[in-house]
Amino acid sequence: MPLHSRLLRWYDSRTREMPWRNHPDPYAVWVSEIMLQQTQVETVKGYFTRFMAAFPTVAQLAAAPQQDVLKAWEGLGYYTRARNLQAAAQRITAQGGALPRASAGWAALPGIGPYTAAAIASICDGEAAPVVDGNVARVFARYLGWADDFRKLPAREKLAAWLLPHIKKSKRPGDFNQAMMDLGATCCTPRAPRCAECPLRDGCLAFRDGTQSAFPVKPAKKVLPVRRMAAALATDPEGRVLLTQRAGERLLGGLWELPSVEVTRKPAPADALRALREQTGFSAARAKLHGTITHTFSHFKLELHVYAVTGLSGTPDQKRHPHARFARAESLPLTTATRRAIGKGKETKGTQGTKRTEGKRKTPVSPKPPHS
Ligand code: ADE
Repeated sequence: MPLHSRLLRWYDSRTREMPWRNHPDPYAVWVSEIMLQQTQVETVKGYFTRFMAAFPTVAQLAAAPQQDVLKAWEGLGYYTRARNLQAAAQRITAQGGALPRASAGWAALPGIGPYTAAAIASICDGEAAPVVDGNVARVFARYLGWADDFRKLPAREKLAAWLLPHIKKSKRPGDFNQAMMDLGATCCTPRAPRCAECPLRDGCLAFRDGTQSAFPVKPAKKVLPVRRMAAALATDPEGRVLLTQRAGERLLGGLWELPSVEVTRKPAPADALRALREQTGFSAARAKLHGTITHTFSHFKLELHVYAVTGLSGTPDQKRHPHARFARAESLPLTTATRRAIGKGKETKGTQGTKRTEGKRKTPVSPKPPHS
């Protein structure tokens, strides 16, 4: 049996009750598709019914106070959807009140992308325009064994092109689209898909190979460049740490850190002594590896090699190095990497201008083991 027949037979046998399905008014379908953009069917049901009772026609939605529209949307989230819906209603009303009759017309309205336009035009006007949302992409990534990244437009367009002959042959484009969406939502679920109930099981590559969980393929995480630094950990007899302040306009500007320099390879003790000299004006007799930490920023990985330095001499050149001083670690705002390098205080998440990975501990500071 052809794919479209298997899909529609399944859909006909178990159509989910939704107040907008088989609704004669394209305006109702439009409202439902906007609500369904970011929200699950079960949540939308009540909102849809109340919204249609409050604003039964495009003209009434266009004329309503925006506060009333937002009130009806309250709790549904993504309020731009409500504002766009009303703006589109006002544009339609100003132009005579006729709703678009094709996906291109729908897509020209505020808040309606190609996927929503395809859904509305297929349901209201029988246009053979395949919807490729997240559910549909999952169903067919598995069925076809395609490893594309369906968050990207070219992959979604490629799948829409593949689906086109099937939706045409179905002669019921609106139902075909809704069947695909329902199949993804209820059967071909992200985890534990119910393959025994699936009308597309025969011919599904992922089912055949038992690789359902591998699709859709999530692209590998970006490999971040690694920046290596050598840092000097110097303390005075009172146990205060020698710190320098980062310039205001740099990443983490204004925060304090150990004197450090960037290096191209795993640094040697001499690099830490250079960092100390260049950043503070002090010299030191010896440097010994104290530990290495890695810290992930949004756009690079920091590999910080910390050397404990001893035998300090000299004084800071206050003109060239006005921002070097011995201080208690807890008395100044430190970068997270510095706090970890010193091994004092608590790490705080997300306070220093970096993204998600801020504060994530990858490699704990560990004193160098003897003999290595
Ligand atoms: N998700 C978005 N539109 C839908 C529809 N018409 N039916 C089921 N799920 C949907």
